[in-house]
Amino acid sequence: MTDPPRPLMAGNWKMNGLSGDGLALAAELVRRAASAKGEEAPACDLLVCPPASLLWRVAEALSQSPIAAGGQDCHADAEGAHTGDISAEMLKDAGASYAIVGHSERRAGHSETDALVRAKAEAALGAGLCAIICIGETEAQYGAGETLGVIEKQLAGSLPDGPGAAEVVVAYEPVWAIGTGLTPSLDEIAAVHAHIRGILGGASAEGGVMRILYGGSVNPANAAEILGLEEVNGALVGGASLNADDFWTIARSCP
Ligand code: 13P
Repeated sequence: MTDPPRPLMAGNWKMNGLSGDGLALAAELVRRAASAKGEEAPACDLLVCPPASLLWRVAEALSQSPIAAGGQDCHADAEGAHTGDISAEMLKDAGASYAIVGHSERRAGHSETDALVRAKAEAALGAGLCAIICIGETEAQYGAGETLGVIEKQLAGSLPDGPGAAEVVVAYEPVWAIGTGLTPSLDEIAAVHAHIRGILGGASAEGGVMRILYGGSVNPANAAEILGLEEVNGALVGGASLNADDFWTIARSCP
């Protein structure tokens, strides 16, 4: 049996944070990382994904710490006439080592298809970033019992061919659990993650050790039991990542 991958605790700040509060939050996380020794240190890799406006400065603030910086989206092209967009190269240049792609808020709010998400993931890999590829069913799909089928289709359509385990992270985020305070039951999370692992592991040996994060209303109270599930290799945290106490508590809940 292979060892489970080291978990990743990723904070997605979404469209939150100005220079005052955003940089203060980054500085507080750096302070905690520097003072956490031995048992006190979270048993996971740490990542924050600030809005693009703060990426450079947050990445700089984190540069002497073990905490990585990431972007929340990227364009599929490396450069060109795409007003308002940001390329994976630009994220990398600003200090990112990860890029989230295919978040449900982009799939829904910007009509992103699986094919586009795959192209963005390929762009991220091409720029030397690790792509965090988000998948997850809507409330209606959940209600109709379609979760596993939706996941299969999104994985088949959004994942680049043959990426290494260090290059891609899959984040399972049920749309109905995002920002709602609702979460699937532990059995449901475990079943979806096992299904994702089966698909990834069936596709390649690398897929057997690729990290699979859970996201959707993770908070300090529910983190330990979710992170303790088999095949849950960390979390993608939204709202709770905007509070240093909460994010740190969640990170420290990694087994
Ligand atoms: P919440 O943690 O606020 O539910 O958001 C989850 C999410 O969308 C992270 O990408």
